[in-house]
Amino acid sequence: MRVLVVGGTGTLGRQIVRQAIDQGHTVVCLVRSLRKATFLKEWGATIVGGNICKPETLPPALENIDAVIDASTARATDALTIRQVDWEGKLNLIRAVQKAGIKKFIFFSILRAVEYPKVPLMDIKHCTEKFLAQTDLDYTVLQLAGFMQGLIGQYAIPILDNQSVWQTGENTPIAYMNTQDVAKFAVRAVELDSVARQTYPVVGSRAWGATEIIQLCERMSGNTARISQVPMAVLRFMRSLTRFFQWTYNASDRLAFAEVLASGKALTAEMAPVYEQFGLDPKETTTLESYLQEYFGRIIKKLKELDYEVNPTQTDGKKKKNNFFF
Ligand SMILES: NC(=O)c1ccc[n+]([C@@H]2O[C@H](COP(=O)([O-])OP(=O)(O)OC[C@H]3O[C@@H](n4cnc5c(N)ncnc54)[C@H](OP(=O)(O)O)[C@@H]3O)[C@@H](O)[C@H]2O)c1
Repeated sequence: MRVLVVGGTGTLGRQIVRQAIDQGHTVVCLVRSLRKATFLKEWGATIVGGNICKPETLPPALENIDAVIDASTARATDALTIRQVDWEGKLNLIRAVQKAGIKKFIFFSILRAVEYPKVPLMDIKHCTEKFLAQTDLDYTVLQLAGFMQGLIGQYAIPILDNQSVWQTGENTPIAYMNTQDVAKFAVRAVELDSVARQTYPVVGSRAWGATEIIQLCERMSGNTARISQVPMAVLRFMRSLTRFFQWTYNASDRLAFAEVLASGKALTAEMAPVYEQFGLDPKETTTLESYLQEYFGRIIKKLKELDYEVNPTQTDGKKKKNNFFF
């Protein structure tokens, strides 16, 4: 099939491109920057310039396409807001897909989005699900929780480098998934007629709280985490402050996620029927232990090759600070 991937330069999007090419599909990527996307071209994808917030740029990318996988979302660093990209941009894209006569459309939502109408991105995701249901598209919605890749910057690197790990008092467990595994579901969704007009959770095998992840990282790195607690009240105050200025809207909308973390309701779901429906094997899905083990194993090996030791004990018994990441 000829598959258009939107957001192919992103964390999830690039894994979808890889997986779709490996499965024998012809992949076209709609990208904002051709320069940033050269690696996708090297993998065998065709890249076409475009921006979902500029509807006039969409038709050329949609020519001769059988299915669209949309993995785009507003970047935290972008001038464009979540509303502009994840709502207005998505509506542009969905309308252009309909106009091009393409039926298959894969959309990534967030698990339990319906329960958080006051969290902007959750509300937008839920509204997009409702919007899709009103179209005649053979859409499939995959509701995600969190990506294992995000845990590296949040926990693994600061713990290895003796930097502070920020934590709120609340500890809502999240069933993180490796984006490589999410990509398998996305590409299968394109291939299967039986998943049309359906919504599925796509989450990891077990939900992990922040404290458990920190303990796991400590065990695997051999370092002790320096934990800094941020009270929820401070996050709420920062949110109200960042809401004042347009250029901090994205930061504010992300801080709103603190409400999800404060809820205590685990972001997880029963996956056995989903694996069955998609014809995938749960035993092949990455566990968080194996993901982090592989990460720390690789980093520690690299450090040893560089003739460093992680946390060598000096003659005075004090631990030496690692500064490999700055
Ligand atoms: N990250 C998570 O933990 C998580 C959890 C639940 C659901 N999801 C969902 O999973 C999907 C993928 O997320 P991600 O974390 O992989 O995203 P990401 O790494 O932030 O990448 C975002 C992608 O969207 C592209 N993009 C942004 N604005 C665009 C625009 N106006 N026009 C065209 N492309 C645009 C970016 O292109 P550039 O390279 O040009 O910036 C990039 O390729 C999203 O739908 C997200 O909501 C993510």
